[in-house]
Amino acid sequence: MGHEEVASSPLPQKDNPTLLFNNAGMNQFAKVFLGQEKRPYSRAVTSQKCMRVSGKHNDLTSVGPSPRHHTFFEMLGNFSFGDYFKKDAIQYAWEFLTEVMELDKSRLWVSVYTDDDEAEELWQAHIAPERILRFGKKENFWEMGDVGPCGPCSEIHYYLGDMADMKAEGVNVEDDYLEIWNLVFMQYEKAADGSLTPLPRPSIDTGMGLERITQVKQGFTNNYDTDLFTPAMDVVQELLRHSDEERKANYVGYRVIADHVRAATFVIADGVRPGNDGAEYVLRMVIRRAARFGRDMGFSQPFMAHVAGAYIQHMGEAYPELIAQMEHIKRTITQEEERFARTLDNALVQLERVLEETADKQIPGNVAFDLYATHGLPLEITRDLAEERGFTVDEAGYVVAKAEHALASGSGGVQGVRVGWQHLQPNRPRFNQRRQIASGRG
Ligand code: GLY
Repeated sequence: MGHEEVASSPLPQKDNPTLLFNNAGMNQFAKVFLGQEKRPYSRAVTSQKCMRVSGKHNDLTSVGPSPRHHTFFEMLGNFSFGDYFKKDAIQYAWEFLTEVMELDKSRLWVSVYTDDDEAEELWQAHIAPERILRFGKKENFWEMGDVGPCGPCSEIHYYLGDMADMKAEGVNVEDDYLEIWNLVFMQYEKAADGSLTPLPRPSIDTGMGLERITQVKQGFTNNYDTDLFTPAMDVVQELLRHSDEERKANYVGYRVIADHVRAATFVIADGVRPGNDGAEYVLRMVIRRAARFGRDMGFSQPFMAHVAGAYIQHMGEAYPELIAQMEHIKRTITQEEERFARTLDNALVQLERVLEETADKQIPGNVAFDLYATHGLPLEITRDLAEERGFTVDEAGYVVAKAEHALASGSGGVQGVRVGWQHLQPNRPRFNQRRQIASGRG
């Protein structure tokens, strides 16, 4: 239908101070939506490399317990820049899901924004009125970040459970209802003060996770059972000489390793090296977090280059940068594992001491920062280990300590604060909510 096939843009967001990485297919088109950039086409399709591990969209803590969350993922999307709008976007999505993907129509549900009568009416041409639900801002208003293009959206959900149990009340609540596609009706630009200005031309931005649609098409209820991940998880199992039962019992560790090594592989291929700030910190953190889970499962030597090799082999045709940089990717991961291995034992002893000495069940921010700065333990690992023991970390205090350290060492305190916050997740779910995530909703 006349859509230009546009290549994925690289993961790091060099020109966008509000994002470290692409977090959606629309990032590379943000200026086109805002009317600040012209392209020789008004319709596009992409498969975009994304990372949701910082800023507004951060899925890090769900990775492992959840069967459907990832740091790195591939987002499929079609876009209209002032060309078609709601009617065609809805029709194209319906045709693609029911005729091209041949999904079972009787399992599909859609949602529209609270007051979007127009979208509801348009959906009625395709699906029974009782299958069209309304939700508020949290579910049905999409924003790229704190500023930028945004608008009401319409989500499509696929029911995975027994038909006899299917009900409207389950959508956006129960694990069996999988959000597979989000159609964003791009209409506004959000400013830093929260105000919304209408875009010059209403546009369309859609996002469908390749991992989720693959899960549905391959008949699983878990993204990690699809062939996007199993070759890498098979490598882990082989290296550990685990039985299938042991692999199943250690599913959180397998998923964290499968996810984080994939993320590291792609981030390194896009030119990032492990470091202490911004995207470099995120890369270091995912490698170290995977290493910590690996150590718990029995790895005593660097192992991730083998796992990366499985991804390079299986995804290298679609992403030739993986093949071109294979040796560099493997070497960078191994070096970071080795660097971490040198401090990890001592870091864990220090953390143990901190837990013993912390009376109020909250690790002070400056102590958590010291665990990283002196002992190489990223905040995210301190948080994982603390939570396993019923402790929290003062994350705001961590940011202050990091900024003070940056000022003292002359590396730019203000910048440190901003970048520091970006890898945190201010609205991180608390313990009881994480149980819900563990079972896979969202
Ligand atoms: N930009 C649409 C989405 O990420 O869901």
